[in-house]
Amino acid sequence: MNAIIRDDHPTPRRVLHALRGLPTSDGAGVRLTRVIGTSQLPDLDPFLMLDEFGTDRPEDYIAGFPDHPHRGFETVTYMLDGRMRHRDNHGNEGVLVPGSVQWMTAGRGIVHSEMPEQVEGRMRGFQLWINLPARDKMTAPRYQEYAPDAIPVARPAEGVVLKVIAGEAGGTRGPIAQPATDPLYVDVHLAAGAGTTLDVPAGHRAFAYVYDGAIRVAGERVEAGVLAILGDGDTLDLASTGPNGVSRAIVVAGRPLNEPVARMGPFVMNTKAEIYQAVADYQAGRF
Ligand code: CO
Repeated sequence: MNAIIRDDHPTPRRVLHALRGLPTSDGAGVRLTRVIGTSQLPDLDPFLMLDEFGTDRPEDYIAGFPDHPHRGFETVTYMLDGRMRHRDNHGNEGVLVPGSVQWMTAGRGIVHSEMPEQVEGRMRGFQLWINLPARDKMTAPRYQEYAPDAIPVARPAEGVVLKVIAGEAGGTRGPIAQPATDPLYVDVHLAAGAGTTLDVPAGHRAFAYVYDGAIRVAGERVEAGVLAILGDGDTLDLASTGPNGVSRAIVVAGRPLNEPVARMGPFVMNTKAEIYQAVADYQAGRF
């Protein structure tokens, strides 16, 4: 874990564990797969939760996520298919469309809803929760929201497409700024026969989650629906596994916070007392 990293010899990251998410439901009955934030993987510092939602059945998503609070961390929504309207108690409102990203810093508190802006068709995407350090938990709420054409794309080799949401990949830098965790978030598409090596900052906690097809992650075949938790190092090798189709994965990394985590539903703080304060503030309408 704490290997000496030499500048001139990259250390490839390896797969420490591979595991599947668990089917669950959240909000007013949205069916989804929880990959991080389960009993088998409560968190992966600084990541608190990863959900994949993906369905063609309106009854699985139509009830959406009515008004609910957040305090103490960030939520990142990356839409693949479908449209979702968000609205909060500070007057912010918008519609997430396929390929768009919403990076929301809840900070000291927001109350918002996330509701489907469609009554039929496919709804697919990810929501990732990233923790904030103690010094930033009570910061003012903030949005970093990007339309699909504002997410830069790198094509470092034939058959390789990197959509760079945060951090740097293929010589391209994503638009998100978050110094606390210095995140990397890349949507990787590999055509048959294609492969690439990503730089992943040493010391960051990192994972790859394959969501279409299958990808050889650090030499190991990882299928859609499987999370590969990566060991330390400063590069990650990705390659297609077979002759057919395009495979896709998100690769995410962030600097661990190494702080105590006190968590109750949508509140993530450092101590129990801060959680009780969050509940009291929310109930008193102070969000
Ligand atoms: Co929310």
